[in-house]
Amino acid sequence: MSQLETLKQIVTGRVAKDEPMAPYTALGVGGPADYFVEVMSEDELAALMCYIYENSAPWMIIGDGANLLVSDKGIRGIIIKLGEPFKLIEVNPPFIKAGASARISKVADIAAQNDLSGLEGVGTVPGSLGGAIVMNAGTHRGYIDEVTESVSIVTDQGEKRVLSNKECGFSYRNSRFQWDKSMIITFAAFKMSKGDGEAIAAHLESVRQHRDETQPQGKSAGCFFKNPPGLSAGKLVEGVGCKGWQEGGAMVSPIHANFIMNADNATASDLYNLAERVRMQVLEVHDIELEYEVRLVGEW
Ligand code: EPU
Repeated sequence: MSQLETLKQIVTGRVAKDEPMAPYTALGVGGPADYFVEVMSEDELAALMCYIYENSAPWMIIGDGANLLVSDKGIRGIIIKLGEPFKLIEVNPPFIKAGASARISKVADIAAQNDLSGLEGVGTVPGSLGGAIVMNAGTHRGYIDEVTESVSIVTDQGEKRVLSNKECGFSYRNSRFQWDKSMIITFAAFKMSKGDGEAIAAHLESVRQHRDETQPQGKSAGCFFKNPPGLSAGKLVEGVGCKGWQEGGAMVSPIHANFIMNADNATASDLYNLAERVRMQVLEVHDIELEYEVRLVGEW
């Protein structure tokens, strides 16, 4: 049986060969993945990981692609995406259980509707719940680890487990999931406290409005570079005159210089080449080497 046929027997979600990645990323670029597999339950994911482990197949999990720059040559191996059932958001005060594919902003909105406080800090950050856990995302209003009771995972050997908060190894913008690649986050449970839903909703709305006013709309992966300690990457890039620079269909946003946009049918190479030109310019002028905040994946 072909690998494609075997994969179709393991999962009930979409299975495809040579699947273009562009539609799965916010930047809207990226060549084909050898195999694309959408899993519809933890059991399917566990069975898939057993198969992958037994066959030593290369694999990668993608979330909602908010922060990925996939190369034009695409990705070798099996790309796994968590399907619709992983968007679950279940409220059982004071607990909220939600799936790794749920948008963290939506979880925060639903918490507010139920007068539950604790996710307003992270509820203004783009991306999925899984990504927010990996990054220990948050703002000065609070980080996700403060309310995380437990995290359900499937291991790379197909074992299902539930980790306590302590086992997640959270620290500032960090968690064990950044170095321990053996675990796929499937669900999380949050222990919330009683709050004023209307005030929380108003806070979420005002932060989002501020973001809409100061950050460009359109195809982007958010901030392209990390802020160097004590500095703003956007300010640096603007300061060295890169705002508006173009490469093919890619452009340094004239609104916020840390956004490299897919302005007009850019390729991944356009975006990468422009980003490298910007890095060189900042290096030459300030002797500061900007680090990528977006994740570069695939064959370059
Ligand atoms: N600035 C400029 N020119 C620019 C952009 C910014 O001079 O082109 C100045 C601003 O005026 C401000 C300072 O730089 O004085 C900082 O800018 P901003 O407030 O926009 O924040 P940031 O540090 O650039 C960070 C996060 C963003 C997040 C915002 C708001 C990083 C790398 N970026 O941006 O996150 O949305 O704060 O909370 O940490 C992302 O994660 O993808 C992202 C965009």
